[in-house]
Amino acid sequence: MIYFDNAATTGKKPKAVIKAVETALLEYSANPGRSGHTLSVRAADTVYRVREKTAEFFGASGPENIVFTLNCTHSINCVLKGLLRQGDHAVISSMEHNAVMRPLKKIGIPFDIAEVSLENDDETLKELAKKIKPNTKLVFCTGASNVCGKILPLRQIGELCRKRGVLFGVDAAQIAGVVPINIKQMKIDFLCIAPHKGLYAPMGVGILICERPLPNTVLEGGTGTNSADLFQPQLLPERHESGTLNLPGIMGIGAGIDYVKQLGTEKISNHETGIIKTVYFGLRNNPEAVLYTPEPFVNSYAPVLSFNISGVPSGVTANLLAENGIAVRGGLHCAPMAHRQLNTLDTGTVRLSTATFNTYSEAEAFLRLVNSQNFLKKLKKAIE
Ligand code: ALA
Repeated sequence: MIYFDNAATTGKKPKAVIKAVETALLEYSANPGRSGHTLSVRAADTVYRVREKTAEFFGASGPENIVFTLNCTHSINCVLKGLLRQGDHAVISSMEHNAVMRPLKKIGIPFDIAEVSLENDDETLKELAKKIKPNTKLVFCTGASNVCGKILPLRQIGELCRKRGVLFGVDAAQIAGVVPINIKQMKIDFLCIAPHKGLYAPMGVGILICERPLPNTVLEGGTGTNSADLFQPQLLPERHESGTLNLPGIMGIGAGIDYVKQLGTEKISNHETGIIKTVYFGLRNNPEAVLYTPEPFVNSYAPVLSFNISGVPSGVTANLLAENGIAVRGGLHCAPMAHRQLNTLDTGTVRLSTATFNTYSEAEAFLRLVNSQNFLKKLKKAIE
């Protein structure tokens, strides 16, 4: 099988990650931070070391700023619901996922949407700057679109937010491990991470990096600290970490960060975007293929590519690819606003996304299939 659905989750986990999860289950099966016995203390120490490693990797102020959550969506909910209240205003980008849209709708405060330019970052910045109002508390945007891969100019947005006295949050689901992130240099206040994607960790664990306090919590409960106090602790990270932590997942994150560090994000993005470019140019010569972005360069596009075969709903193309042993994602990818901008709300798009284990020969096999007359004939038949 050729797995090109790595924006949903990386399809192969490195051996070291699998080993770390196995070690957690075999040798560390005790609740970190809850009991005083040796095994529990050892588990807590291990969690702390992963906090240190995560803080160092993303340039956070310290290990206590690293909160382990259930997933990236949970991290985003913690930021939006933890911060925004009636009277506030927020600004988001036109590429946001429902992980941002739905919590914002639930909170019910006014927000404005700045259109992301696929070609010119200055235009994106101008749009964002125009939307900031005196009561804007937060600018929240994705690091890169999960539909078309466009990377947002985070450093410049961070500077803009700092200048205008607005907090800045980033959904790093598609960029962590692929695009270098230093939250201090980029002036990011809250970074939400999906470790099971570019950090090659297991699903079911998320990271929230909090450089500022979040006044409200979305989950309260036992933290193993100040147990006589019936109110949620104020201190990070336990303020946002109620209930037993996912130790196997957290140890998987530690091993995943080591794996990414060893390869280096530059090498990873060159490799993954190189494969995406091969597909891009191979499809550009196909008169039936519709592409939605300019050429995907490293640093301006994450390794995510959307296309369609003219007149064919994306789900039909994705299903035929699956029948031929190629895993991609069709549909709206939970990001309807991006599709409104790309004019693909009705059809969705077929999305390919690469990881370190993908090869150029897989891209060529994909192109041989999709560019064949036989594939086209079968698609046309499927929609008759
Ligand atoms: N948000 C993930 C995706 O884009 C699941 O596929």
